[in-house]
Amino acid sequence: MTDNNKMEKVISLSKQRGYVFQSSEIYGGLKSAYDYGPLGVELKRNLMNEWWRSMVHEREDIIGIDASIIMHSKVWEASGHLAGFSDPLVDCLISKERFRADKAPRPRAGDKLSITCIDKGQAKTYLNAIQKRFNIELRRNGKILEGLRVIDNKNFGFFNSAEEKPSATFPYSGYVSPTFGIPFLSEERQFNLMFRSQIGPVDVLGDIAALIDDNKKIGGKVLREGIEKIVKKSAVYLRPETAQAMFVQFQNCQQSMSMKIPFGIAQMGKSFRNEVTVEHFIFRSCEFEQMEMEFFVEPGTQKKWLKYWRDARMRWWKSLANNPDKFRYRAHDKNELAHYADACYDIEYEYPWGFDELEGVASRTDYDLKKHAEYSGSKLSYFDQQKQDPETGKNGWRYTPFVIEPAAGATRGLLVYLLDAYHEEIVPDADGKESSRVVMKLHPKLAPIKAAVLPLVKKEGLPKIARDIVSDFFKAGVNARYDEQHSIGKRYRRHDEAGTPYCVTIDGQTKEDGTVTIRNRDSMKQERIPSGNVIERVREKLALS
Ligand code: GAP
Repeated sequence: MTDNNKMEKVISLSKQRGYVFQSSEIYGGLKSAYDYGPLGVELKRNLMNEWWRSMVHEREDIIGIDASIIMHSKVWEASGHLAGFSDPLVDCLISKERFRADKAPRPRAGDKLSITCIDKGQAKTYLNAIQKRFNIELRRNGKILEGLRVIDNKNFGFFNSAEEKPSATFPYSGYVSPTFGIPFLSEERQFNLMFRSQIGPVDVLGDIAALIDDNKKIGGKVLREGIEKIVKKSAVYLRPETAQAMFVQFQNCQQSMSMKIPFGIAQMGKSFRNEVTVEHFIFRSCEFEQMEMEFFVEPGTQKKWLKYWRDARMRWWKSLANNPDKFRYRAHDKNELAHYADACYDIEYEYPWGFDELEGVASRTDYDLKKHAEYSGSKLSYFDQQKQDPETGKNGWRYTPFVIEPAAGATRGLLVYLLDAYHEEIVPDADGKESSRVVMKLHPKLAPIKAAVLPLVKKEGLPKIARDIVSDFFKAGVNARYDEQHSIGKRYRRHDEAGTPYCVTIDGQTKEDGTVTIRNRDSMKQERIPSGNVIERVREKLALS
């Protein structure tokens, strides 16, 4: 199985088994959004609940919140998201492709700029379009257009085959369009990634229409500024990260729970980004879920805590994986750091397309608390009675805490564990012949269904015994499923693909001696045990694993 193949297989299994569906599929689908199906919703909740347990329920020093998705728009002004949360976007003047400048290929001085089209027909269309617009005739070689070359970091030129000097030169942006390699591009435009909406009973369109009506002669920049003013009055934004609520509610949380520094505030939930490039299935989408924690520390101790959280978070990801070697750290270069950070590590996973981000663990300094204090006028600081103020030497120190932030993607984490769990194996079937099976080796804590209870046949009182066992599982708080459709072999395979760790089979012998078989998903070994011990056995295995 190649890596590309694996991604395709996971996407296809996700749909077939009910992990992840394309949003609004019957209407042609919305490329940037996904729906979590009957198995996916359980898997996502299990993953997020495990995170919550390790972050909040198992620690004295972290408390949780669940803030609203829509916050005061000043929050985004203070955090810098309104001004700076944008991608540089460019349009290709020939293919009309729109792409992110910072992600585009960057040929260097002397490099040939071959334009690679999908087929000959498209090559002819682009050749004509370039000739018409730029007055040069490129050479066509099948679906490739040739003749352009980078001169230096400001110019590229058109070279007739043998000529040393270009017969025409053009300004070079430093990159080409990602799909076709075309250097004829528009200026860069900043594109804000936040989804904007309006709040309150306002008639924004009416106000804009009135503005245009009153100012028939104004146009361009002035009109745009006028419209922006109207929109801004009632504008609200869907949060692009869960983090800001923890800064904004720092004081309420600290005081209501009498927290002492160091302490953390955790939150998980939906975030929204109008991503220009949505890619790799649920890896990057416009609506996604995050699991973030802001850990407030004394100034000067941030290095120690950054290392602590980097290691703790890495241990957590690995503890739920089959292949811990596929995770690694990557320290950010100085020029890559976000404006608020003085250091950052990415926890990366080896996806089918290579190592890429799963979680960022950032040292966010005191930037956010200070900014919110400045914009809101509230005192977002901490008073430590036990400490001496390092500046005055007096007892008692008031300071703005520094922050360490482990910020993980929950939906991205779900993709990681789907990829980690996917296995194809050759195993003996019911008749001892070799057959292939797909098995999702999900950690039992993550598995959507913990046990499937299967009557061997739909008669002879077996369904009733099976349903009674399922009902006992429910009472014990274990998510179990009754399943009587198809042959027993098919049911085992179905539950292998659903990642169900245990299958409990009720057969004729159950009626005679009260025993059932319990089958382990990974080893496929079956054991006969008294039916009265089944719940405890599965619970034990889930707790130990
Ligand atoms: N508060 C800091 C913050 O939001 P980030 O690196 O932009 O940092 C944190 O996001 C994590 O959220 C990422 O490591 C990734 O796992 C996830 N994430 C970010 N954008 C995403 C998107 N468009 N789709 C899915 N997950 C995303």
